[in-house]
Amino acid sequence: MRATTAVAFFLGALQATAIPTGLTSVDDYIEAESAIALEQLLCNIGADGCNAAGAAAGYVIASPSTADPDYFFTWTRDSALVFKTLTEYFASHDYDPALQKKIEEYIISQAKLQAVSNPSGGLLDGSGLGEAKFHADATQFTGAWGRPQHDGPPLRAIAGMSYAKWLIANGYPATAQEIVWPVVRNDLAYTAQYWNETGFDLWEEVKGASFFTTIAQYRALVEGSEVAAALKTTCKACDEIAPQILCFLQSYWNEDGYIVSNIETNVDRTGKDGNSILGSIHSYDPRLGCDAHTFQPCSDKALANHKAVVDTFREWPINAAAPAGTAVGVGRYIEDIYYEGNPWYLITLASAEQLYDALNVWEAQGSLTVTPTSLPFFTDLVEGVKVQEYKAGTADYEAITSAVGTYADGFVNVVSTYMQSNGSLAEQFDKATGKPLSARDLTWSYASFLTAAAARNNVRSPDFGWLAKKPKVPCHCKATTANGAYVEATKTTFPPSQTPGGDETITSSIPEPTSTVCLSRVTFNVLIETVWGDSIVVVGDIEELGNGDISQAKPLSADNYTAENPLWSFKVAVPAGASFKYHFVKVKEDGTIIEEAGPEREYEASDECNSTGETGGAWQN
Ligand SMILES: *[C@@H]1O[C@H](CO)[C@@H](O)[C@H](O)[C@H]1NC(C)=O
Ligand SMILES: *[C@@H]1O[C@H](CO)[C@@H](O)[C@H](O)[C@H]1NC(C)=O
Ligand SMILES: *[C@@H]1O[C@H](CO)[C@@H](O)[C@H](O)[C@H]1NC(C)=O
Ligand SMILES: *[C@@H]1O[C@H](CO)[C@@H](O)[C@H](O)[C@H]1NC(C)=O
Repeated sequence: MRATTAVAFFLGALQATAIPTGLTSVDDYIEAESAIALEQLLCNIGADGCNAAGAAAGYVIASPSTADPDYFFTWTRDSALVFKTLTEYFASHDYDPALQKKIEEYIISQAKLQAVSNPSGGLLDGSGLGEAKFHADATQFTGAWGRPQHDGPPLRAIAGMSYAKWLIANGYPATAQEIVWPVVRNDLAYTAQYWNETGFDLWEEVKGASFFTTIAQYRALVEGSEVAAALKTTCKACDEIAPQILCFLQSYWNEDGYIVSNIETNVDRTGKDGNSILGSIHSYDPRLGCDAHTFQPCSDKALANHKAVVDTFREWPINAAAPAGTAVGVGRYIEDIYYEGNPWYLITLASAEQLYDALNVWEAQGSLTVTPTSLPFFTDLVEGVKVQEYKAGTADYEAITSAVGTYADGFVNVVSTYMQSNGSLAEQFDKATGKPLSARDLTWSYASFLTAAAARNNVRSPDFGWLAKKPKVPCHCKATTANGAYVEATKTTFPPSQTPGGDETITSSIPEPTSTVCLSRVTFNVLIETVWGDSIVVVGDIEELGNGDISQAKPLSADNYTAENPLWSFKVAVPAGASFKYHFVKVKEDGTIIEEAGPEREYEASDECNSTGETGGAWQN
């Protein structure tokens, strides 16, 4: 693998010394499995991926599994993480036109997907960007689901910006400005507008505020300001809102010394969750050193949290013999009941990746510092560690970093022990038997392998990272948001043959779009007694209600349903003044459809901008 010069620039001292010697079997495994991971990952991307028949070009399926569980869908989050990985891989290896074509197809696929009206809403007010998953052919998924999920848009912006940065660095800034930025811009606007509303976490279970989501939002907006400037435009909402998200991010840390992954919610859990480890590695920037406000992998808070999360899983049968400071299979959270709760490959790999990232920074800065917060993490690994700075070159420093390297490699060994023997990585492995479980060939598992391997080998692209300077946390947190302007990205063809060394220049700066849409938010309510398994949808003759096509009808929520008040409701933004006909439909668990009796209901939304309205009533028998 090729280490790049710019990385050497700030990680000068490092290069291949971070990992203790004598671990050739891990080296061999990393090399062999990396090739399999890349190949299998590409198999899960349409249109020509070997396991993705039926997926449109650029769309990533979560897994080829179509039953028990059915993951043959495209998730905004998973796809963004996969393309963040692929773009970083592309930018840190020899130029590969086939990979570039995939990246271009992804950007184009997302430009189209942003405009698909869905149960979370549409592009009019950005609300539809919070939809978590779509069918693999890029049509909306209308079943019940955890909505909205606020991490998809910032992660997609980050993935898009990583390609924009490659284009800028390789002589194609105009392409980045004209084709990539209009897609990124919508996701940044969404992030600045909706960050302070509750949404579902990355595991799609808890409605609240999620560490993984918040840190992705912060990173996206900071990077957004920088990339905007490089493209001769602005992202004023990024500049204004990012510090407030950083402020809020601090509130996930608790006095017991770990990150509480889900807050603003009332679930009965400790909050120790792989969510936090993933949040840390996906916001890694070696230039930030061990900054704790951004929970950098080597920060004392992130290391203390690593211990807190990993230790919760030591009680599982396959981990039972492993004392603190030795690697185990790591799951989502100990209270997990999905498949009865098991280790996940991608979280076990993330647990390794955080430590590799830490080693890389310590080597680059020539020291590591143990604080009272991180002391318990280090004590597990090396007896007698004290709260102090350890300088590179000393025996103590070598002993500590060598132990951290061994610990990190241990997680990779766990994955190699419990993967399918031919190298396939599913979603989970059984906590008692170690057998692969749940969805097979999970795309995100492969992406995690590739990023862990890149961290271990310290192979990073010249543009790796997102924030050069340590950020300042505002003294008082404010719940400021910014209403965005959303414009469909319509330029969806990349110029051919954009090999490194282009000579494009940006001829003019572009103004930010300003909002011209005038919309009204309508709540649809219907009172109907239902039984478990029933769902209620609404269909009407406007785009927001599926254009009269019952297969595109929008699902109502039963969040406020009670026996006394059997209320189902759905909120959506429509153009102010829109007038339309609609009716409700009951869908039984077996798929039987019962339409409301006529006549069609009619509604005319207020023509005042930002107005709200309500319509519906008792079910018409
Ligand atoms: C919104 O921001 C305020 C200020 O940081 C914070 O107190 C509140 O918990 C936030 N809520 C959500 C859901 O982000
Ligand atoms: C491993 O074998 C399974 C069948 O058991 C197959 O579906 C999968 O594609 C194989 N994986 C690789 C990497 O060859
Ligand atoms: C349920 O009621 C609460 C409180 O009135 C409201 O904020 C929320 O939006 C309602 N949920 C739905 C899905 O309508
Ligand atoms: C009304 O909506 C527009 C467009 O979204 C926005 O710019 C404006 O700030 C809103 N006004 C109020 C009073 O919320």
